[in-house]
Amino acid sequence: MLRQSARGVNARGARVRTLARMIDLRSDTVTRPTEAMRAAMVGADVGDDVYADDPTVNALEERVADLFGHEAALFTVSGSLANLLAVRAVVPVGAEVLCEAQAHIVRAELGSHAALAGITTRTWRHPRGLVDVEEVAALVAPDLGPFLVRTAALSAENTHNFAGGVVQPLESLRMLRTVADRHGLAVHLDGARIWNAHVATGVPLREYGAVGDVLGVCLSKGLGAPIGSLLVGPADAVAEARVWRKRLGAGWRQAGMLAAAGLHALDHHVERLADDHAHARLLAEACAVDPGGVDTNIVVVPCPDAPAVVAAAREQGVLTGAVGPRTLRLVTHLDVDEAAARKAADVLGPLVA
Ligand SMILES: Cc1ncc(COP(=O)(O)O)c(C=O)c1O
Repeated sequence: MLRQSARGVNARGARVRTLARMIDLRSDTVTRPTEAMRAAMVGADVGDDVYADDPTVNALEERVADLFGHEAALFTVSGSLANLLAVRAVVPVGAEVLCEAQAHIVRAELGSHAALAGITTRTWRHPRGLVDVEEVAALVAPDLGPFLVRTAALSAENTHNFAGGVVQPLESLRMLRTVADRHGLAVHLDGARIWNAHVATGVPLREYGAVGDVLGVCLSKGLGAPIGSLLVGPADAVAEARVWRKRLGAGWRQAGMLAAAGLHALDHHVERLADDHAHARLLAEACAVDPGGVDTNIVVVPCPDAPAVVAAAREQGVLTGAVGPRTLRLVTHLDVDEAAARKAADVLGPLVA
């Protein structure tokens, strides 16, 4: 038994060492903290965050709330938890949130909104994951008492992950806000990669913040922090979310070391997202995808046999993801510099042709 688990540890160690040498385009969540980020984490001032005593967590929450022009924020372990707490804050049990059919909240959060908060979902469909205001407005269900599930919130994802890092135009988000106001609904923004949208368009974060009643934003994707997301919104909603976070077993103690990584990322890793976007366009070009359609750091590549390309690229030191039988996904990030992007382009170009 002992020998077996020792072998397991060694196998995992070898796998991690092998991965470290590869160019990893599977996701922007795979980044490792830089030396400077690690130093910031080690030096962080900490306290018990369940008592709201952690000065670094408090500083991060205040800073992120302010960046989006909101009253408060809550540091969470994941983007999924930030989204769950955010949607739960604006949608009561038995009501629904409307979102696009490929939205992360409906496809990839494992039904948490239904399973843990009694929330149902209906979706509109757009080939680029965009808000189709007319369709959204047509989907809204009024409160008809015992006859229909009532719509309580509209949700938009910016950038849209499964659609390929697509930026939602500010104008459509504002129109979504108008529809919500007309029907007395809340707006949730899944801003896991809102930093990419901000850097790609120059739209100030506060303009995005003004569209949403509640937002989820992530530090652990393009910004390169190892862990952490935030729910952003009104003080009363955030206070209630703090209780729910603890109820779900996700209250944490000296989380300041993680918050320090987040603060470091906000200081040093936002503007550089432009490099990731340039690297994504470079990869797109090599894979015969129109770089004009690549808004940020995600490239969706159609190819005849995606799993075969994944396997062949892996043999040549490039990790990619198949998101469908004929669809490959490439994601650029902090740990892929220009040389690595060019090397990956050389490997992938012939494989997807
Ligand atoms: C758009 C979007 N929202 C939310 C999440 C959830 O983040 P996490 O993996 O930290 O739960 C992701 C993860 O990739 C995402 O792409």
